[in-house]
Amino acid sequence: MKTIAIIATGGTIAGTGQIGKASAYRAGEIGMDEIIETIPMIKDMAHIQVHQIMNIDSNEMNNERWLLLMKTINKVAQDDEVDGIVVTHGTDTIEETAYFLTLTLHTLKPVVLTGAMRPATATSPDGPYNLYQAIALAGHPDAYDQGVMLLFSNTIYSARDIQKVNNYKIDAFDQKSFGCLGYMQDDQVYFFSKIFKKHTQHSLFSHMEIDHLPEVAIVYFYAGAHASMLYDLSQDHEGIVIAGSGNGNYDRSWLEAINDLSEKGIIFVRASRVIQGIVLSDEIFDPHHYCISANTLSPQKARILLMLALLHSHQREEIRKIFHQY
Ligand code: SIN
Repeated sequence: MKTIAIIATGGTIAGTGQIGKASAYRAGEIGMDEIIETIPMIKDMAHIQVHQIMNIDSNEMNNERWLLLMKTINKVAQDDEVDGIVVTHGTDTIEETAYFLTLTLHTLKPVVLTGAMRPATATSPDGPYNLYQAIALAGHPDAYDQGVMLLFSNTIYSARDIQKVNNYKIDAFDQKSFGCLGYMQDDQVYFFSKIFKKHTQHSLFSHMEIDHLPEVAIVYFYAGAHASMLYDLSQDHEGIVIAGSGNGNYDRSWLEAINDLSEKGIIFVRASRVIQGIVLSDEIFDPHHYCISANTLSPQKARILLMLALLHSHQREEIRKIFHQY
C-alpha cells in the first residue's frame, strides 16, 4: 500500500455547525483524525500520516503561513516512505495557496489540495468524498510531476488555472478556458491534459531559500476610481497588480500615475477583473511598456507570481519574462 501524508490546515471540510445544516457554521473546528474516521475505506487504500499544522478559516491564510506550509511539505516529501501528499484547505483562498505551492515546492511527488463547501456536520458533507478521492489521486502514478493539483467534485484541476467560480454550490471550481486536467470516478483516475507552464522542481522559485515575501497589493479599477489609491499603495508596496476592466484597462489618470510611479521603481502588473480571456501588452495603451501583462492569471495569482519574481529580480524585463513562463 502507498503512504500518503495529509497536511491539514482547516477550512469548511473541518467546519462544524448545527447538526444537519449546511449554513451558519465555523470553518476549521475539528481535527483531521476525526474526519478520517468518517471515511472507512481509507484504511484499505493507503497508510495515512496526519500533520495538523493549523486549523483555520482560509481567510486567515497569509504569507507567513504559506511559508510554513511550503517548508512542511518539502520536509514531508523528502521522506522516502511518502508517495504523495494531500493538503486540506478552506475553499476561499485555496487557489492562491495552490498557486504559491506549485511555484515553490521542491518535489515532483503528487501534491493534491482539497476542501469542502459543506461543513463536516451537514446532512451530506462533500468533504469526506473529496478527501477520499484526493488520497487516491495522490497515490496514483499518473499524478507524478503534474504540478500541484486540486481535487473537487470528481474533477482534477491544475493549481495555476483553478478559480472559485461559485460561492454557494458544491461544484464551486473551474479552470475557465482550460477545462480541467482530468476526472475521477470513485478512486479511478483519468488524466486528459498536462500543465504546460513551469511548476514545482522545474520552477526557479523551488530552488530558492525563501524566508519572507515582498509586499505586493492588488487594486481594483472601476469607473471613476481615484488614481490617488496608487500613490497611497506605493508608500509601502514594491509591486502593484491592477485588476483592470476588460483587457486590464484603466483611465488616463491611472495611466499617468502608473507611468510616474514606474519611473520611481514600482513594478506594475496588469490583470483583469474579467474572469476569462487574456491580458496582453498593448502598444497604444501602454507605449512605454511599463506594465507587465498577467496573461491568463487572475489578479490574486498575478500577485503571488509578482511577489516571488521580486525576490529574484527588480528588473522589469526579467519579471516580464517570468510572467511568460509561469
Ligand atoms: C474557508 O475558506 O476556510 C471557509 C470557506 C470554505 O472552506 O469553503
